[in-house]
Amino acid sequence: MTYKEKIDKSKLPLHVAVIMDGNGRWAKQKGNQRIFGHRNGVTAVRETVEAAAESGLSFLTLYAFSTENWQRPKLEVDALMSLLVSSLHGETPTLMKNSIRLTTIGNTNALSADVNKELQTTIDKTANNTGLNLVLALNYSGRWEMIRAAQDIQADAAEGKLKQISENVFAEYLATRNMPDPELLIRTGGEYRISNFLLWQLAYTELYFTSTLWPDFRKEDFFKAIVDFQQRERRFGKTSEQLEQYESSQNQ
Ligand code: IPE
Ligand code: IPE
Ligand code: MG
Repeated sequence: MTYKEKIDKSKLPLHVAVIMDGNGRWAKQKGNQRIFGHRNGVTAVRETVEAAAESGLSFLTLYAFSTENWQRPKLEVDALMSLLVSSLHGETPTLMKNSIRLTTIGNTNALSADVNKELQTTIDKTANNTGLNLVLALNYSGRWEMIRAAQDIQADAAEGKLKQISENVFAEYLATRNMPDPELLIRTGGEYRISNFLLWQLAYTELYFTSTLWPDFRKEDFFKAIVDFQQRERRFGKTSEQLEQYESSQNQ
């Protein structure tokens, strides 16, 4: 039985987020430059997006470039940016075919004009698609997002537009407003860390780490993570007994 067949369609996560890590090490293992790994990572992106669309998820967020990734050698940053442009261009037919809508989170204003032009073209083209919401985290970090939210709150408060800050109000100032929090986070590449990703939103997310390097990640790996997620008990601070009582009251 494949992992795809093992998925319980009635218990799908609404939102899966992915830290796509391990491109550099994958290339190094093959005696190649890091950029070779990034290029081969595009296949894994396609597989993951298609797998998410096939399984009927509502949101897939991919961490593509962090605010810290600017510290990499310029040659690598430039290669990542041009790969982004060519992939957006090349993958648009796949997005259209699967009715996938593209959006972004992150400080995209700071990206080059070329990148912004291609991004906007794809965002506009896919705007009316009604299937999977594909969210690219680009020049994103959780701390950047929270500081920007705090600044916006400060500005609104100064204009008297804001009375009381609550969790819901705060969440409205984040880049992920209108999105449910991820229920599952997958990180490839074997590191056990969050690397400044979705710090607010991951509060109760199930974490799944795999040593598979990103360019080797395929649909079945994604389905395997979903099956693993479906076997977990999400307690949100309650006890198992309370959850069982709730379940049985729902079934009556
Ligand atoms: C992830 O792979 C891609 C980005 C961060 C853009 P890495 O480039 O971080 O690969 P490793 O972790 O060095 O192997
Ligand atoms: C996280 O990977 C960022 C992305 C996948 C875009 P990194 O490779 O940058 O993370 P660290 O530096 O190992 O924590
Ligand atoms: Mg890495």
